[in-house]
Amino acid sequence: MIQRTLSIIKPDAVRAGNAGKIIADIEKELKIVSLKRLHLTKAQAGAFYAVHAEKPFYQELVEFMTSGPIIVMCLEGEDAIVRYRTLMGATNPEKAAEGTLRKKYAASVSENAVHGSDAPETAAVEVPFFFSTCELI
Ligand code: CMP
Repeated sequence: MIQRTLSIIKPDAVRAGNAGKIIADIEKELKIVSLKRLHLTKAQAGAFYAVHAEKPFYQELVEFMTSGPIIVMCLEGEDAIVRYRTLMGATNPEKAAEGTLRKKYAASVSENAVHGSDAPETAAVEVPFFFSTCELI
């Protein structure tokens, strides 16, 4: 099934100059339907990660996600959600498989280089959070 999913290159990876390499890795697997670079406000990051609002790491996550520019992309392809999650690797880079984005570019569970929607229902909320219909060409 052709799916769309949301990808974020997080502030750590943008700061380190790894965005281009990450985009090149993604393009080997999936089509980039839309892309933009932005700097989230605390309110925007808090709303995006609202599902984690009760978690002990929520404040740290919002601080980190607003610490610099990010690059958001809508990706498309056959089984895009699971394929992009496989490409990203485990949330904790210490547990991520060789060759995955987090193994290559992430430093820790909190600064883990990339984000991807975890299910079709999540993608259906996360893609429109950043992209309007007109931007999804
Ligand atoms: P992400 O895929 O963006 O979804 C939620 C994020 O919360 C996750 O990646 C991590 O960056 C972050 N996260 C998850 N667990 C922890 C933790 N124990 N400490 C700090 N951040 C975490």
